[in-house]
Amino acid sequence: MRASPQRAFRAGPFVPATFAEEAIAGLSAKPKWLLAKYFYDRAGSELFEQITALPEYYPTRAELSILEAHGSEIARLLPAGTALVEFGAGSSRKVRLLLSAATLGTYVPVDISRDFVAEESARLRRDFPALEIIPVAADFMQPFELPAELLARPRAGFFPGSTIGNFEPKDAKAFIRNAGQVLGRGAVLIVGVDLIKDQAVLHAAYNDKAGVTAAFNLNLLRRMNRELGADFDLESFAHSAFFNREQNRIEMHLVSMRPQTVRVAGKKFRFGAGESIHTESSYKYSIDSFRALARAAGARPVMVWTDADGCFSVHALKY
Ligand code: AVJ
Repeated sequence: MRASPQRAFRAGPFVPATFAEEAIAGLSAKPKWLLAKYFYDRAGSELFEQITALPEYYPTRAELSILEAHGSEIARLLPAGTALVEFGAGSSRKVRLLLSAATLGTYVPVDISRDFVAEESARLRRDFPALEIIPVAADFMQPFELPAELLARPRAGFFPGSTIGNFEPKDAKAFIRNAGQVLGRGAVLIVGVDLIKDQAVLHAAYNDKAGVTAAFNLNLLRRMNRELGADFDLESFAHSAFFNREQNRIEMHLVSMRPQTVRVAGKKFRFGAGESIHTESSYKYSIDSFRALARAAGARPVMVWTDADGCFSVHALKY
């Protein structure tokens, strides 16, 4: 199959599980859980954009400041003509900083949702007319193949936002390993990782005064009501977020304020008073603990940058 810049490259025969299947699996478990990737429907993506501007939510600002301050140093790891593969393509704000700092040949946004990538790619094409853009529709947690024409170029990966913190450490390791398989030997991975810090700062970042994070969490119930024919009463669930010290992670939950039964995708689920759905884990690392994880995944840490307050880190790993 030939990939053209106009068409998304379709990789692999992978068939993803549906939202209904994964919701039923999570709500049948004890403790109950839902996958954080389902936060991001249109309303959820807009709420997340609002989160990134909250005074309490430091990660986005901190990471942008790192990419701005050290863009040229990062660019030195990306030879002219490099194909930059972004794993999961959200807003293009961060990659734009790299595209401005380095002379990249090709930008390869990889995302399971084709539509969103297509929209964002069209905007990038306007702003970087010399850049070749080849969107790939794939689940980046699974092995997939890059378009063959890219294998002759230097390749690099980009995984910003501490999205890697949403994975259980074993899955974070699997992601780094898989990314190395996709990118090939000699490739560089630029990855953003939130750092362990003062618990009050962490707590505030996920319990903002304006209640946007609560709305973001509760939107998951609204989404199930709309997409899975569920009948969650949003008034009877409360947002809860706290730092789990043993595991170095923020946990977000939705807590049932009373005993109740909810229907989701044609099935009934019983909630006790105070029973919660674990909706997200956001792991925090030290520079050393992340480097150890990277090494265990077969990658070599080569550089790390932090913001002035030491809140956030951007690592360069080499395969
Ligand atoms: C996009 C996964 C990095 O964990 O901080 C923000 C998502 N959740 N507020 C994070 C999120 C609640 C965010 N990540």
